[in-house]
Amino acid sequence: MKIQTGNPARGNDFFNRKNLIQKAWDLIESGNHILIAAPRRVGKTSLMYFLLDHPKNNYIFLYLITESVNNENEFFRRVVNKVLKTDFIQASQKVMAFLEKIVPTIKKVGPSGVEFGVNEEHNYREMLGKILASPSEGKKLIIMLDEFPETLENIIEDEGASAGRHFLQSNRELRQQTEISDQVQFIYTGSIGLENVVSQLNAVNTINDLARLQIPPLKKEQAEEMMNLLLKNVDFELSEHLIKYILEKIEWLIPFYLQSVMQELKDLCRDEHITQITEAVVDQAFTNMLEQRQYFEHWHTRLRTSFKGKDYSFVKNLLNVASENGFISSNEIYDLAVKYEKEETFKDFVGSLIYDGYINNHGNPAKYRYNSPILRMWWRQNVAN
Ligand SMILES: Nc1ncnc2c1ncn2[C@@H]1O[C@H](COP(=O)(O)OP(=O)(O)OP(=O)(O)O)[C@@H](O)[C@H]1O
Ligand SMILES: [Mg+2]
Repeated sequence: MKIQTGNPARGNDFFNRKNLIQKAWDLIESGNHILIAAPRRVGKTSLMYFLLDHPKNNYIFLYLITESVNNENEFFRRVVNKVLKTDFIQASQKVMAFLEKIVPTIKKVGPSGVEFGVNEEHNYREMLGKILASPSEGKKLIIMLDEFPETLENIIEDEGASAGRHFLQSNRELRQQTEISDQVQFIYTGSIGLENVVSQLNAVNTINDLARLQIPPLKKEQAEEMMNLLLKNVDFELSEHLIKYILEKIEWLIPFYLQSVMQELKDLCRDEHITQITEAVVDQAFTNMLEQRQYFEHWHTRLRTSFKGKDYSFVKNLLNVASENGFISSNEIYDLAVKYEKEETFKDFVGSLIYDGYINNHGNPAKYRYNSPILRMWWRQNVAN
């Protein structure tokens, strides 16, 4: 397993999270449409790639990232084009006949066959409905849509909240069309919480049919196993004790942090000609990691874009206090809400911070802490001070 800190992990570089994958398959095989709910960098896209690369028999996966799309018809055009390239559609006479009717020049449907260009005007939502409803000879199509909430946000920004609601409703109707729901399932995810965006639209009913798949952090044993796999491709060694030391420092054991620390250790060994890793070297690797602005900046920019004015001041100050003191109590949160005149809405904001992976109150319902001590340290150095 090679260190990978930027792109999603794929192939041999993917740490096989058997329980998670099993859970995903349980949901798929019982016919659910799924929302993968997890904070940034936790491994959502990597999981989708794994499913794409390892389909079970009679399942066909399609992966589409729609980040930059900003209107509904364009979204469905992209999905149609992708669906037309899958085995699900190939050789379907019915789909061919249907397409020939709307686009008479079409001769063949296949990998290099039909594709609808940006300038062609069709109702792609309707077209997709018809294509997906065509008989599939027992095959199931799983349509995985990455960065879906970003698309929704783009639509809201460019065309307003009601266009956003319409978009959600169209997706829901498509999922629930009877001829489709037997043979097509959708998996949605994205780097921002769909539930947060949807609840701001008061449109929770448009996604309440989705089964949630959480991506938990790794268990300690899994994290140890992953560290050992990563060690196979580097020039330095780590004792069991040091691995434990590293994992304790990381605490929130998402694969991304394991990868990042290993990358820093590798760089240190090379740049400083270090041959023997010690606790001090590990500490240095963590310090260096905190200086990698791109690893963490998105946590901050996300708040800048989704909260404005006093809302932003409220969440920022909440996180500042938690980063300084190690936690923030419910009373302190309430005091901040009063200060910024957010008594009505502050609970939703706290909910967003929990949902998006900043903080939790697991140990004690009245105390909120960072999920990740690394993020806490970063925040303290770069935002709070
Ligand atoms: N199963 C895995 N095995 C190895 N590394 C992983 C795994 N899952 C995630 N990672 C690490 O975490 C990083 C982020 O993974 P990925 O892009 O899949 O997360 P994401 O949740 O889609 O992130 P984003 O919210 O930014 O889109 C990868 O670059 C890799 O370092
Ligand atoms: Mg991703």
